[in-house]
Amino acid sequence: LRMVLIGPPGAGKGTQAPNLVSRFNAAHLATGDMLRSQVAQGTQLGKEAKKIMDQGGLVSDDIMVNMIKAELSSEKCKKGFILDGFPRTIPQAELLDQMLKEQGKPLQKAVELKVDDELLVSRITGRLIHPASGRSYHKTFNPPKVEGKDDVTGDDLVQRSDDNADALKKRLSSYHAQTEPIVNYYQKSGIWAGVDAAQSPFKVWGDIIKCLGYDA
Ligand code: AP5
Ligand code: ZN
Repeated sequence: LRMVLIGPPGAGKGTQAPNLVSRFNAAHLATGDMLRSQVAQGTQLGKEAKKIMDQGGLVSDDIMVNMIKAELSSEKCKKGFILDGFPRTIPQAELLDQMLKEQGKPLQKAVELKVDDELLVSRITGRLIHPASGRSYHKTFNPPKVEGKDDVTGDDLVQRSDDNADALKKRLSSYHAQTEPIVNYYQKSGIWAGVDAAQSPFKVWGDIIKCLGYDA
């Protein structure tokens, strides 16, 4: 399966992607996770990206396209991939199509997780993540088995530095201005499907699998 998950911050991209990964044996390519790993490693790219991410802006198309190019041609993407957080601009979407066309493996589906902005504040401010794996939890909506600890490894969970009300406002406006146009782009190419992502995670998963043409 080769697909893209589109949605505003807190829509549930990172929550649903692992379901797709285990169902389809595909790789999870989350550009936000990749950038946070650069930040954690203290690389030059990480230092520059952190400033932009904390302000809710977008890292340049150039950097992001190069980052994803390397991943897409790697062994782990042989059986397919779930893109989460990429593409985020029209130029990124166009370059992705071009890259995949060259490999003879075009995108099969672009699923938009649709949620109104008002719902996202509580999702984002209550989120906790496991930095090493990218797994995300929610203090109320999806609590870990042991408070503050990752279910799988037992490691401490942390809050993302861009998960505050101020940065969220900017992330939402970046989303509406720069990312939402890709919805129309994929509608035109005929691979778009929309899912009501204000429902419970379980129902959202059921709808995603349905629009891919499978049973949950
Ligand atoms: P990124 O990490 O991609 O952040 P984002 O797009 O803001 O998305 P989030 O990770 O916040 O949301 P999500 O949809 O994954 O939500 P989740 O499933 O965790 O990017 C971060 C930054 O990196 C960007 O701002 C940008 O600066 C930069 N960047 C990344 N890619 C880039 C690119 N291609 N180009 C340029 N810049 C780039 O869920 C959120 C919370 O809600 C969780 O706590 C979860 O438990 C809960 N939840 C999930 N689903 C439900 C539900 N159905 N009901 C109730 N609660 C739910
Ligand atoms: Zn995410």
